[in-house]
Amino acid sequence: MAKPTLPLTLARGTGIPLAVQLAQQVRRLIRTGATGPGDRLPSNRALSADLGVARAVVEQAYDQLIAEGWLTTRRGAGTYVADLGVVPTTTTGRGRVGPAPGAHASGLVRLDTGSPWVDRRHEAGWRRAWREVSVARMPRGYPDPAGIPELRAELAGYVARTRGLSCRPDELIITGGTTHGLAMLLDGLGDGTIAVEDPGYLAAVATAEQNGWPVVDVPVDRDGIDVAALRIAPPGIRAIYVTPAHQHPLGMTMSAGRRIGLLAEARRRHAMVVEDDYDSEFRYDVAPVPALASLDRDRVIYLGTSSKAVHPGLRIGWLVGPADLIASMAERRAARHDHPTWPVQSAFLAMLREGHVDKLVRSARRVYAERSRVVVAALAAFGEIGAAPAGMYLTLRVPGPVADAVRNDCRQAGFDVPSLAELSRTSLITGLVIGFGGVTDEELSRALVVMTDSLSGWLDQSDRTPVP
Ligand SMILES: Cc1ncc(COP(=O)(O)O)c(C=O)c1O
Repeated sequence: MAKPTLPLTLARGTGIPLAVQLAQQVRRLIRTGATGPGDRLPSNRALSADLGVARAVVEQAYDQLIAEGWLTTRRGAGTYVADLGVVPTTTTGRGRVGPAPGAHASGLVRLDTGSPWVDRRHEAGWRRAWREVSVARMPRGYPDPAGIPELRAELAGYVARTRGLSCRPDELIITGGTTHGLAMLLDGLGDGTIAVEDPGYLAAVATAEQNGWPVVDVPVDRDGIDVAALRIAPPGIRAIYVTPAHQHPLGMTMSAGRRIGLLAEARRRHAMVVEDDYDSEFRYDVAPVPALASLDRDRVIYLGTSSKAVHPGLRIGWLVGPADLIASMAERRAARHDHPTWPVQSAFLAMLREGHVDKLVRSARRVYAERSRVVVAALAAFGEIGAAPAGMYLTLRVPGPVADAVRNDCRQAGFDVPSLAELSRTSLITGLVIGFGGVTDEELSRALVVMTDSLSGWLDQSDRTPVP
């Protein structure tokens, strides 16, 4: 293919780095169709000589555009415009690329915080577990209301091994997931007020309110829940709901000092701490920080879930707490026959025993680490990225009007990108949440192309300083 001569001009002394200008102009050329899929770009050497800039400038711009999905490289053969699979716009407007192929007629491809990676490679282990259930002997009558004993024992071993939380099987009850565990706990405690991080997990807020527990919003800072703010909250708080391993949705890990402070404040108030440990398996750099519950087994109720490691449709979780509390929960549950179904518990037990869950976690962790690198490379220039190297989503802090405009552009292109403001009740944190678990690599790179295109249009250079 003939080497295109690109109409590029860089302006010095504007305060905008040359590499950023170059990347912006190449993006615009691609967006407007001036250069198309498969077109070869000039080599670093040729373009830097043409423009009279250092080779590092071209290299930096090309690297950025490769990370964002606009360009691809073929080893030893140069840099090419990628096939974005979208129709270029012919005007210079914002974010008007065509619909993402992954979007179905009924809705948008949602880049949410909660959907995990599901891959065909997992099917063999999944099928084996269900085959095992299909030939297992049925229990006599209703199963144990606290959960299948073998599953409770297996999970007691799992939380000790993976979360540093040692417990006996009679200190663990099988739930239908995190919110089910929370509902059971609040039901057992009777009445009171619950403090929840803000921004925080809105399903926990809804669960509390539906169970008649008023919610007190407590702000978070870089160390996790703001204990000083909690200290001056009104009396009557009997439960404090936190996400210490990976704050939802801002992503930080609760610091050691904050953990100690939170437990002291909970003791002072005679309140329970509810630890939602939803995605701690997915820390990519170091082993996860041990569960908060390992510091105070009497005060902290621990909620684990299979929703991230296996699938949210399984509806299996576990609650760890003092044995007498577990026994009374089981008793209340027996009266209502309100336990996860026996086949689902049995299948999950088979998955744990066979090492299928460990395998899923290991492979998903690798996928998330790689996807998070791609997201950071594409978006870091546009705002402050939430820091923790963990989980299946990242946040990008940008001003509220920019977040709204980008979401709108994404929606038109077939992607639903949640906003931080949506996840906040009283705090004024603004930005975007980029979930990268429940999408394909292709959908993610298309969404990033739309996002970076839109962000480049809506954010001028002066807006790109990190949001405090
Ligand atoms: C903060 C948080 N906790 C827990 C969960 C899992 O909830 P469940 O176990 O009810 O599926 C999610 C899922 O998105 C979550 O984001």
